[in-house]
Amino acid sequence: MKAKNSTLSSIKNRRSVRVFLDKPVSNADLQTILEAANQAPSAHNQQSWRFIILRGEKKSDLVSLISTKAGNFPKPTSVLLRLASRSIASAPVVVAVANTGELILRGTELFKVDKNIASDFFRIMEIQSSAAAVQNLLIAATSMGLGTVWLGVLVLIKKDILRFLGEPEGEFMAVVPVGYAARPPAGPKKQPLAVVAKYL
Ligand SMILES: Cc1cc2nc3c(=O)[nH]c(=O)nc-3n(C[C@H](O)[C@H](O)[C@H](O)COP(=O)(O)O)c2cc1C
Repeated sequence: MKAKNSTLSSIKNRRSVRVFLDKPVSNADLQTILEAANQAPSAHNQQSWRFIILRGEKKSDLVSLISTKAGNFPKPTSVLLRLASRSIASAPVVVAVANTGELILRGTELFKVDKNIASDFFRIMEIQSSAAAVQNLLIAATSMGLGTVWLGVLVLIKKDILRFLGEPEGEFMAVVPVGYAARPPAGPKKQPLAVVAKYL
């Protein structure tokens, strides 16, 4: 079915892209997708996401870090980590997303609620906010003909990744390679609405 407008068509056309052409992404395009990410809603308007952009040598350093750490894990985890590092190596630019942890740290104070009751809640809200930012980035990239993939498996080495990103106090969210797809993406089928939605 044809999407009713360009926003819906970008949502529909977004598929994970893991192999990229050797073609640069312009700074202007990168800026546009970062602005889209930064436009996301956030709990208590904390906007506590941070975007860390990696190209060239820094990107290669991240690839080496992941490949080295992958060796500490058994299969299939080591394979998934290596696949992630390959996608990063293949993309011209990578956007890593981390939370600052501010809402996690200050949430109970802001809302004057007991730490025991709410610290988990604030942690979740901070993660949800950054997840919205990541999704904005993915959709905006699609709308501009760019491919992306949300690499979450790196959470397994999150301490190393966050230290590498200069966000040691933060929470790992995603590493997103961005570039032009090497081939048209054909992701798995989505479940029918009849399975995932119910009307009460
Ligand atoms: C939170 C999250 C973590 C993910 N982590 C990975 C990952 O580590 N490696 C990977 O190749 N894909 C990863 N993906 C992409 C999913 O595999 C992909 O979205 C799913 O298979 C559906 O395909 P589609 O994105 O083409 O619709 C992740 C997606 C999400 C939302």
